[in-house]
Amino acid sequence: MASSSSSSFITLVLFLLFLHFSCFFNNLNAKHIVAKSHNHQHQHKHQNQHQHTKNPSPNPKLYSAFLALQAWKRVIYSDPNNFTTDWVGPSVCNYTGVYCAPSLDDPKVKVVAGIDLNLGDIAGFLPNELGLLTDLALLHLNSNRFCGIIPITLSNLTLLYELDLSNNRFVGPFPFVVLSLPTLKYLDIRFNEFEGPLPAQLFNKTFDAIFVNNNRFSSSIPPNLGQSNVSVLVFANNRFGGCLPESIVNLADTLEELVLINTSISGCLPQQVGFLYKLRVFDVSFNQIVGPIPYSLSGLSHLEQLNLGHNEMSGIVPSGVCELPSLKNFTFSDNFFCEEEGICQNLTSKRIVFDDRHNCLPEKPLQRSKKECSAILEHPVDCFELCCPAPFKTNVTNGSVATPPASIPAAMPVSAPLLAPSYP
Ligand SMILES: *[C@@H]1O[C@H](CO)[C@@H](O)[C@H](O)[C@H]1NC(C)=O
Ligand SMILES: *[C@@H]1O[C@H](CO)[C@@H](O)[C@H](O)[C@H]1NC(C)=O
Ligand SMILES: *[C@@H]1O[C@H](CO)[C@@H](O)[C@H](O)[C@H]1NC(C)=O
Ligand SMILES: *[C@@H]1O[C@H](CO)[C@@H](O)[C@H](O)[C@H]1NC(C)=O
Ligand SMILES: *[C@@H]1O[C@H](CO)[C@@H](O)[C@H](O)[C@H]1NC(C)=O
Ligand SMILES: *[C@@H]1O[C@H](CO)[C@@H](O)[C@H](O)[C@H]1NC(C)=O
Ligand SMILES: *[C@@H]1O[C@H](CO)[C@@H](O)[C@H](O)[C@H]1NC(C)=O
Ligand SMILES: *[C@@H]1O[C@H](CO)[C@@H](O)[C@H](O)[C@H]1NC(C)=O
Ligand SMILES: *[C@@H]1O[C@H](CO)[C@@H](O)[C@H](O)[C@H]1NC(C)=O
Ligand SMILES: *[C@@H]1O[C@H](CO)[C@@H](O)[C@H](O)[C@H]1NC(C)=O
Repeated sequence: MASSSSSSFITLVLFLLFLHFSCFFNNLNAKHIVAKSHNHQHQHKHQNQHQHTKNPSPNPKLYSAFLALQAWKRVIYSDPNNFTTDWVGPSVCNYTGVYCAPSLDDPKVKVVAGIDLNLGDIAGFLPNELGLLTDLALLHLNSNRFCGIIPITLSNLTLLYELDLSNNRFVGPFPFVVLSLPTLKYLDIRFNEFEGPLPAQLFNKTFDAIFVNNNRFSSSIPPNLGQSNVSVLVFANNRFGGCLPESIVNLADTLEELVLINTSISGCLPQQVGFLYKLRVFDVSFNQIVGPIPYSLSGLSHLEQLNLGHNEMSGIVPSGVCELPSLKNFTFSDNFFCEEEGICQNLTSKRIVFDDRHNCLPEKPLQRSKKECSAILEHPVDCFELCCPAPFKTNVTNGSVATPPASIPAAMPVSAPLLAPSYP
């Protein structure tokens, strides 16, 4: 299922990190013994300092991290699970949620390489001092109550690989600072209150996964979408409008999950979707897509989940799609399809979970009324004629404001696990 790939991606990264950390912990024990005897010799020399700072900082990088984490703690106003209660004193590697590892520059120097405060329910801000955590590879703040904007000083985190800010209360325009991070692969800012357009530069990065769902992004999906090499794209529950750009075809070698639920997209589905041969999840439900199912979709041999539900699509449901070898779940309810070709009439026989309700299928139960159907079917859509509506210009270099489309889909619960705000 959709979520399994993203969570397995996380699991993999965590696993690698844990390997990394557990190797490190072994080193650490050895180092501790060395450090202890070392400290012992110098104890008298440093006694005065001890009185001021309790413990001398082991190295300047950890001291910087100490300053950063203390500054952070000062702007944390609620921490019901006591994650930061032990954030006291300079031994930052012992803080809850803070993970140290040997520095990439110098394996003998210990640095803060990861911070994981997932599910903390912590309320507060991100202070500018986070820019001091220059060795951070992983920052996970999923499911907290952090608010305000993302500080620009995060641009200092040049080793950051994973940034998960999901399910918080961040606001403001797209956090441009993430675009300056040279090694970022995993960007998750879903379930916040970011607004305005997505910058085109987002697709000029070597990200592997981009989750921006459940924000207030508007404007169209940038047409250079295909420039990235992303494998998971989740845009759901924003108000983009416009069409799915044909340049999506350029993602053919990487894209596995494309989730555009409730993003106000319209126009026809481009034939190019059918060339995304790695696609496993394709969900464009709850939009204003018109026209037929492109025949090219029958080339998606890895497709497992196909959801076209709650659009204004019409024409026939082609057997090529119903015969896709990996298809497990095919939802096309709440459209205006008028014929199911071949095996599509009996998807049960293929053990495919399906939903064909509320269409114009004469043989099937729970369909739309004749009146409703004829109103639409009398005006067939010509996708060649239909220019993709582009009612607003996106200022790609700047990402300045564009007008969102007016239509808001009906409020209906969408239960898609991929959209869940958190992973354990
Ligand atoms: C956090 O610490 C406070 C004060 O020590 C305590 O009352 C509370 O039960 C702790 N909360 C949790 C979730 O441990
Ligand atoms: C860090 O924690 C470990 C185990 O909890 C403890 O043995 C060690 O003394 C602590 N280090 C410092 C510097 O407080
Ligand atoms: C960025 O990192 C450098 C060390 O690499 C540090 O001196 C500087 O203060 C940091 N800048 C900010 C804004 O934190
Ligand atoms: C994308 O990157 C290329 C090469 O680095 C650059 O020429 C182009 O202007 C960039 N486009 C955007 C929208 O940033
Ligand atoms: C995507 O991959 C191709 C081929 O590996 C590479 O040429 C291109 O620069 C990559 N694009 C980005 C944005 O990383
Ligand atoms: C099939 O897909 C629909 C739409 O995404 C979803 O609501 C439903 O739970 C799925 N059913 C199964 C058994 O996966
Ligand atoms: C669908 O296929 C199943 C098993 O192949 C069969 O038992 C059933 O009668 C078929 N239903 C219809 C409506 O053709
Ligand atoms: C984009 O923004 C720049 C600078 O704000 C402005 O000069 C230019 O006219 C804008 N372009 C469009 C197409 O709005
Ligand atoms: C972006 O647009 C704003 C408002 O039009 C302008 O003030 C700013 O200078 C622009 N920035 C760039 C980098 O063009
Ligand atoms: C669609 O997204 C809008 C926000 O853009 C939200 O208010 C609405 O409830 C969503 N509709 C569905 C069907 O989830």
